[in-house]
Amino acid sequence: MPFDSHGHIIPGAYPAPRTVPADIQRPPYVGLKTPPAYTGDNTYTEAEIDLIRAAGRISSGALDAVGAAIRPGITTAEIDRIAHEYVVAAGAYPSTLGYRGYRASSCTSVNEVICHGIPDDTVLREGDIVNVDVTSYLDGYHGDTNRTYRVGEVSEEVDLLIERTHEAMMRGIKAARPGREVNVIGRVIETYAKRFGYGVVRDFTGHGVGSSFHSGLIIPHYDSAPSYADIIKPGMVFTVEPMLTLGTHEWTQWNDGWTVTTRDKSITAQFEHTVVIREDGFELLTVSE
Ligand code: MF3
Ligand code: CO
Ligand code: CO
Repeated sequence: MPFDSHGHIIPGAYPAPRTVPADIQRPPYVGLKTPPAYTGDNTYTEAEIDLIRAAGRISSGALDAVGAAIRPGITTAEIDRIAHEYVVAAGAYPSTLGYRGYRASSCTSVNEVICHGIPDDTVLREGDIVNVDVTSYLDGYHGDTNRTYRVGEVSEEVDLLIERTHEAMMRGIKAARPGREVNVIGRVIETYAKRFGYGVVRDFTGHGVGSSFHSGLIIPHYDSAPSYADIIKPGMVFTVEPMLTLGTHEWTQWNDGWTVTTRDKSITAQFEHTVVIREDGFELLTVSE
């Protein structure tokens, strides 16, 4: 029962909980209701950046594996199994598993789901889209990334939304330069998205990431000035993860406490990278190879 008679997504049945070998290091929040407070800042040494990149590479590889498997007929639970097995086989812990009570190793957000969709027995159909978000924890550091996939062929309108959401993320990342305020990222993303009349989600943001999954630093995807005025510095690590919609930016949440959908049930896409700021630009930390 994953779609109602209007074709809108509804909650399904969860798979059995997935297990992680005991020898894989768990993040400190696993088993706690809320993560311990983070006291560090958002800049890292080169040695630490190497570790975030190693975690990010695993997350990116998991998304490569997922992408190779997505086709009409696959369930979001199967997608989660592929991501889980990839991350664990690489010796890492899937950061979402046990984060604030979240039950899965990825988020799978279908069609009008903006983010935080929980994998279940939903069978994907030709023309659907699904965002898969994977974070890996390795040697004390997290790497967080997501991509939106087409299931078979999608409409031109949806195809363009996906393409332009990726472009919006890259433009936001390229705008991040030392000395600027982090709100420049949102300004660039929103300006680009508005050219096409897309909704720009405001209440879910990018974030500092590294030794903590969500450090407290907020990266807006809309023009928030004068808010979110933290100055960008070399060595700073954070995510940029815009969510754009074919309708408005307004959202609602399911009773599961996680799944966020557009209020108008318009289709929505997202992409995410973890990046480090360099003196003269940026480096993506969530890439394969
Ligand atoms: N990976 C998501 C992000 O980009 C966070 C997911 S938290 C979860 O920040 F608990 F929903 F998995
Ligand atoms: Co993130
Ligand atoms: Co993510």
